[in-house]
Amino acid sequence: MTKNDAASNQGWDVALYDQSFGFIAEFGAGLVELLAPSPGERIVDLGCGIGQLTAQIAEMGCDVIGIDADQEMIALARQKHPDIRFICATGEDFTIDTPADAVFSNAALHWMKRPEPVIASVARALRPGGRFVAEMGAHRNVMTITEALYQALAEQSVAREAVEFPWYFPRTGAYVSLLEAGGFDVTHLHYFARPTPLDNCPNGLSDWIRMFGQNFLAAAPPGNEAQIMARAEELCRARLCPDGRWLTDYTRLRFRADRFDG
Ligand code: BEZ
Repeated sequence: MTKNDAASNQGWDVALYDQSFGFIAEFGAGLVELLAPSPGERIVDLGCGIGQLTAQIAEMGCDVIGIDADQEMIALARQKHPDIRFICATGEDFTIDTPADAVFSNAALHWMKRPEPVIASVARALRPGGRFVAEMGAHRNVMTITEALYQALAEQSVAREAVEFPWYFPRTGAYVSLLEAGGFDVTHLHYFARPTPLDNCPNGLSDWIRMFGQNFLAAAPPGNEAQIMARAEELCRARLCPDGRWLTDYTRLRFRADRFDG
């Protein structure tokens, strides 16, 4: 996971991320299966965050490089996994010295708001025939939460336009077209809903908003951030926490795309 690849005001609370958002890497386990890494392969983990999945891939015998745009995430990744190489760079501008067999990315591409240069960087990083295996938030992702935040802000006379929407959640067809235009054949694609529990967030949806929704809170009248979070929670509760357990309304796009050979 990464941030600040494009125009986002988001600032990470890395300690909260480490403590309460381990599920992001846990859900990435299935994506590692789709990557199917073989020992000795050279793999880039784009938007690696604090490096949990990077380490998992390294343990499978691969030569992995973790890349993330956030300095603090990279610092913690290096501290936790001193034997792995981590680079601080954005999805748009990262480069590696030797072409990779695969670029892997879990829950990060939706923070990179300009997909064309990201896809171009990925293509440049891969050897011909190399694979791009990724999962990202897709069309309608976290819509219940974002609409609740917009409503909570509107009730305090803040217009939608005051919020710089921090994410890129593409429709399937649009993203396939971008991959194809960028030199890839899409060989696997799955769009699906994945209600995602917030079991390790003691403050429920408010923790999620504090972690990821800084652009919405930045638009709140000063001092009213807690009120905005509480109102958004109230608006979401019937749909996302009907039985006392918060489940965020995630939708995912999971794909494998192979770089044209030649
Ligand atoms: C996601 O993984 O879908 C996501 C995470 C944080 C903010 C928005 C989306």
